[in-house]
Amino acid sequence: MCGIVGYIGKRNAVDVMLQGLSKLEYRGYDSSGIAIVQGSEVLVNKAEGKLVNLQNKIEDLHLESSIGIGHTRWATHGRPSDYNAHPHTSQNGKFAVVHNGIVENYLRLKETYLADEVFTSETDTEVVAHLLEKFYNGSFEETVVKVLDVLEGAYALVMICADESDKIIACRKDSPMVLGIGDGESFIASDVPALLAYTRECMYIEQGELCVLTQDGITIKNHALEVIDKEVHTIEWDAEAAEKDGYEHFMLKEIFEQPTVFKKTIAGRIHGGEVQFDFDLSAEQVNSWNKIYIVACGTAYHAGLVGKAVIEKLARIPVEVEIASEFRYREPMLDEHTLVIVISQSGETADTVAALREAKKNGCKVMAVTNVVGSAIARESDYVIYIWAGPEISVASTKAYTTMLIAEYLLGVYLAQQKGMDNGALRAEILEGLQHLPDIAETMLTDAYLEQIQKAAEGYKDANDIFFIGRGLDWAIALEGSLKLKEISYIHAEAYAAGELKHGTLALVTDETPVIAICVQDATYDKIASNIKEVKAREANVLAIINEGDEETQKFVDETIAIPRIHNFVAPVLAVIPLQLISYYTAKVRGCEIDQPRNLAKSVTVE
Ligand code: AGP
Repeated sequence: MCGIVGYIGKRNAVDVMLQGLSKLEYRGYDSSGIAIVQGSEVLVNKAEGKLVNLQNKIEDLHLESSIGIGHTRWATHGRPSDYNAHPHTSQNGKFAVVHNGIVENYLRLKETYLADEVFTSETDTEVVAHLLEKFYNGSFEETVVKVLDVLEGAYALVMICADESDKIIACRKDSPMVLGIGDGESFIASDVPALLAYTRECMYIEQGELCVLTQDGITIKNHALEVIDKEVHTIEWDAEAAEKDGYEHFMLKEIFEQPTVFKKTIAGRIHGGEVQFDFDLSAEQVNSWNKIYIVACGTAYHAGLVGKAVIEKLARIPVEVEIASEFRYREPMLDEHTLVIVISQSGETADTVAALREAKKNGCKVMAVTNVVGSAIARESDYVIYIWAGPEISVASTKAYTTMLIAEYLLGVYLAQQKGMDNGALRAEILEGLQHLPDIAETMLTDAYLEQIQKAAEGYKDANDIFFIGRGLDWAIALEGSLKLKEISYIHAEAYAAGELKHGTLALVTDETPVIAICVQDATYDKIASNIKEVKAREANVLAIINEGDEETQKFVDETIAIPRIHNFVAPVLAVIPLQLISYYTAKVRGCEIDQPRNLAKSVTVE
């Protein structure tokens, strides 16, 4: 979603903004723009399309300023275009605004306060710039407060005023932003990668806070404009972690990082055969939960499906997995006996944040499984399990998914252990499997393996529809494999519980619908084998993901890709890796833009 960078200080703000925005490209966008103050004027430049269009446009202008705000826009109101791109300015050109989120009452605000004004865009954001001019009383700060009082919706807003060019003002409601503290300079951005080249000292902005950035530092104020003390955090990510590091795409790099990050997810969490987290749950507390909801979106939702199986099997607590955008609108039955687990790589997904708040409002304890320290979801949850995947830049999630699974295995073991369940032997086997995972995953990523998958992907180049089938945990993986494929290769893909095919979908299976079958789980092997034979009988070409040494399946499918043998319960972590690679190479052979697929954003901060 939209990316924001603001800078005030000793450097040329234009350079800082362009560099910062380039680090936010992964969030997904369709146009970009910057505003600086020169003399008593705000100067704005914008361009539709990639950031390079903006760079080319301003190249010969040799712009310089000590203050500026920049933006990459992901269209919500009004199509992608130069005129809808941010920053937007007030009618007198004195104020400029960049915005992430949606001002829900913008039409009403236009009618009530700005009926006579001329607007130059179709956006909701432009009303904010016009309101700043309308309400201006000689104090930029007081004016911003007045504007905020009439805004409804979600926003991260960063604003400048030509008449008070010694400051940038920023505020947020439900949309993320982080402040960077420099020496004689201050930064603001919607995400950490934009700051990494300049500073590691940061502050997170809470709802309703007003941030005033000057060359001399950052002051945080409340609604009454009283100064608030704020904790300074150190960003742990290294700058290299957010670079491609020789890989052609972030997605491939992140797939390859998996063995390393698996170690980080597990590190320090297994002691003497027991799992420990940063929080401590008593048996009484765990036993008080008679139900668990796992709530998430997209890939994180798919991780939740594995989590359900893991927690139910190990801790014997019933688990329901819900799509976050549906959860709060159907009045779920929640009370203090329900634990709600929210899963989110970014920790900022608007639907998941909303679900979390709904759960808290109903007296539930909330546990977060997330990657981003200091994110809204981490801050607002009672218990947090970090997946420690490091920055995930590719829109298509890979290492975050597999580390979410590992976190869930650890959680399943932990809940069972705290409840004092008598399945110690199974828990020990799972922990052993988890500890072997990093090394085993490492052995998979050989050149020969990649070549084999690349060849299979070439066969999908012209496919219109691909089916993924599996049973039990293999079905959960199939769902993730199909999402990954459609997301980056734009091939229509569907995942089915294999036993369900014959209840309708089998009608679609022909020699033109390749099928990818995941057959790793021993308990359902005979069943999936029959289902594969059903699609083979309809002449579908079948690629099977199998366990190493499975000679049987090779006899009745067209092709196989093997994963190393590991405890069946933990196998989804390995089984999804070839699916990630199939998506990657299929997208590549089709010439798709892998890291930033069309229409999608990394962090979905609008509902
Ligand atoms: C996965 O490849 C997607 N890009 C998407 O489904 C993502 O998982 C979803 O938007 C949830 O994001 P989150 O984990 O940051 O909440």
